[in-house]
Amino acid sequence: MISRRGLLAGGAATAATAAGALVRRETERRDAEPSGTERGGTEHGGAERDGTARGGTERGELAAVEPFHGAHQAGVATAPQAHAVFLGFDLVKGTRKEAVLRLLQLLTDDAARLTQGRPALADTEPELAANPARLTITFGFGQGLFEAAGVDSPVKELPAFSTDRLEKRWSGGDLLVQICADDTVTVAHAVRMIVKDARSFARVRWTQRGFRSTNRRNLMGQIEGTVNATDLDRAVWIGAGPLRGGTTMVLRRIRMKLETWDAADRVAREFTIGRRLDSGAPLTGSAETDAADYARKNRLGFPVISEFAHIRRAHVADPALRLLRRPYNYDGGLSPEGESDSGLLFASYQADVAGQFVPVQRMLAEGDLLNEWITAIGSAVFAIPPGCAPGGWIGEELLG
Ligand code: HEM
Repeated sequence: MISRRGLLAGGAATAATAAGALVRRETERRDAEPSGTERGGTEHGGAERDGTARGGTERGELAAVEPFHGAHQAGVATAPQAHAVFLGFDLVKGTRKEAVLRLLQLLTDDAARLTQGRPALADTEPELAANPARLTITFGFGQGLFEAAGVDSPVKELPAFSTDRLEKRWSGGDLLVQICADDTVTVAHAVRMIVKDARSFARVRWTQRGFRSTNRRNLMGQIEGTVNATDLDRAVWIGAGPLRGGTTMVLRRIRMKLETWDAADRVAREFTIGRRLDSGAPLTGSAETDAADYARKNRLGFPVISEFAHIRRAHVADPALRLLRRPYNYDGGLSPEGESDSGLLFASYQADVAGQFVPVQRMLAEGDLLNEWITAIGSAVFAIPPGCAPGGWIGEELLG
């Protein structure tokens, strides 16, 4: 890895050449791997699949590459990168199957190149492609895309939840493109290339930008990603049927009322989640990874972790039914009065939306203390097709 000092001492040109060589070496190594291998996590150390984000943009980190081809799409089991843009597209009215397939072939080609540090075809800024910074580009299909392709949709909209206040401008979409990397310019470049190539087939319905902190804290100050799916072969990857090797994604835009949250005292905040703010430990334990003891009572006979605490309401005992949560914070700026427009882009991946996501969301809607401060204002569900081999394209088996 090239250090900042090395960059200053050796000059940018030397560093760029070395970084380019790193990318090439990495790409050659990946190309030499047999296709269809399971992916997940980075091979560049640092963040494991524990929800840790990587925020640095040291030269070597800019050159880091995540594999594109394989049994599963990258960007799901991949250790979350620091920055994300979720793009929701609507197909142009009257788009037929041939056009949908053409679009997916084009976008797959862009993703296969850009994620490996190579420019897209007709890239207007090829230099920007040289810093992949663990770029992943993940595709998801909404109901409308399946309809246009004349194929039965494996996903449908979520049922209504009483706590939702959904806005059309953050909901739905025929095609999702999730773009994540550890560098913001890398993400912006990939977004431009994808939007440019999608332009004749689709319109951007929404753009949702997110960021993660290296300390894994959300904007409410809580540590996130403590209890997450680990048995991905059962909880996340679909084992049979047309979506075999793929998964499903639920994306919820959840607004936080930070002004009133800030007014709540520490005891109330910890009671709401069921975990401590400093360590992330459950209220019944002392370390983040201690298992929560939901049976423990206090001296007055009340449960230490409230019946309505977020972690109790969301807890699922069977590891095969857990969600893989990969959320990003969002911050849309301030109103003239200083009121924030911020919250969480809650992204979860699960083999079965109805069997895994819906029951948890129902429990939360019925009685989560956190509801006092959070409101879902956007919602979308996508099928995430399996990955593809070199020369193939995303959606090939599903739609082809
Ligand atoms: C702004 C909204 C939300 C915030 C701030 C939030 C915050 C948290 C925090 C701090 C934890 C504890 C640490 C951890 O294990 O990650 C947690 C756990 C969890 N959350 Fe959320 N969450 C939100 C929305 C949701 C939603 C919409 C769902 C699912 C429908 C969900 C499902 C879960 C699950 C399954 C757990 C793990 C529970 C367990 O310990 O078994 N959360 N959340």
